[in-house]
Amino acid sequence: MYIYVKIQVKTLFKIMFSRPLSRVLIGGFARRSLTSQARNNSGRQQYQWSRARWNFGRAKSTGVAATVALSGGIAFVLHASNAPSDKKLATSSKVDYNEVRKSIAALLDDNNFDDGSYGPLLVRLGWHASGTYSHIDSTGGSNGGCMRFQPESDWGANKGLHLARQRLESVYHKYPGLTYADLYTLAAVVAIEEMGGPKIKWRPGRCDHPDGKKSPPDGRLPDAAQGAQHIRDIFYRMGFTDQEIVALVGAHSLGRCHTDRSGFEGPWTFAPTTFSNEYFRLLLEEKWQIRRWKGPKQYEDVKTKTLMMLPADMALIEDPEFRKYVVQYAKDGDTFAKDFAAAFEKLLELGVDFKTTDGNNKSLWSRIFG
Ligand code: HEM
Repeated sequence: MYIYVKIQVKTLFKIMFSRPLSRVLIGGFARRSLTSQARNNSGRQQYQWSRARWNFGRAKSTGVAATVALSGGIAFVLHASNAPSDKKLATSSKVDYNEVRKSIAALLDDNNFDDGSYGPLLVRLGWHASGTYSHIDSTGGSNGGCMRFQPESDWGANKGLHLARQRLESVYHKYPGLTYADLYTLAAVVAIEEMGGPKIKWRPGRCDHPDGKKSPPDGRLPDAAQGAQHIRDIFYRMGFTDQEIVALVGAHSLGRCHTDRSGFEGPWTFAPTTFSNEYFRLLLEEKWQIRRWKGPKQYEDVKTKTLMMLPADMALIEDPEFRKYVVQYAKDGDTFAKDFAAAFEKLLELGVDFKTTDGNNKSLWSRIFG
């Protein structure tokens, strides 16, 4: 980072001495941006910028030169403010994501784990990494990869997800430049595709934060014991519609609940490692009763008593607006797959600004003016 800034300052100097007017305007525009990045570096850079400002008073401008200089200044600022803030960002463009996909796919199966696959757990990882987003203050979301740090790693809602993160560790180390934030989301996409689900559009660009300081407050992920109002509160906060909510929760065709994680127990479908619309069909067609046990309130299918539904799952058929989509998706698996892919893509991109190469949520305005 330091070397990078230094090179830019050198280049700027060349421009300043060959084009007096350019140096003036560049100094004026770029000052805040660069000095904020160089603040912790040497005083020499501060001095160079002071000189650029000093030149301002001596310059005599012409329209043409000013335009050239202004463009040059803005281009320079954009370039400088895009300077990679760590090694990861500097190399991320070199990552071969097709190879990363293959590596993730290769570690899904494990006969000693759950139903024989890490797939469902990886889907939950990508969802919980992203589902913290709030469009009200633009905090949370998958950018930053903060779940690997406290406090997010310790949240009750994230219990068990350390197993998913550990599983992915070898992939992270195999590809220099890959960020955890990209890896957690790409793993969910690959898992869905490998389990027979739709292709989901995914692109890299998330950065890793160095600690958990930017994690949003706990309590942003849904509480399975609650009903329709709570589900809407949580997902509207992320910017989803009722239709998107139902499509997303259809991911419960995959995986199961664990007493040592959420306290609930059992799978939603008979084929928990296959992506399908079975969750919706079973919700509608089976008879569900409250399970008698010592655990939290959950439902079991009357026929086999082997499947389960959470109170939040039942809310999807109790609420008339949600139910409409459950009926539609139970009938039409292709529409479900298509809608799920679109909603899941949206989920994984919440709070990530792909326009900036550093994924740091900086607007064009803030990149120019600091
Ligand atoms: C109303 C919203 C939701 C609630 C209340 C909810 C709740 C839960 C709970 C309690 C578990 C069990 C965790 C465990 O004990 O291991 C779980 C698992 C799971 N959830 Fe959700 N969830 C919701 C939405 C979603 C969404 C939007 C997705 C993905 C798009 C998703 C994907 C999964 C998957 C794949 C599992 C299985 C994980 C495994 O097998 O280890 N869930 N969910």
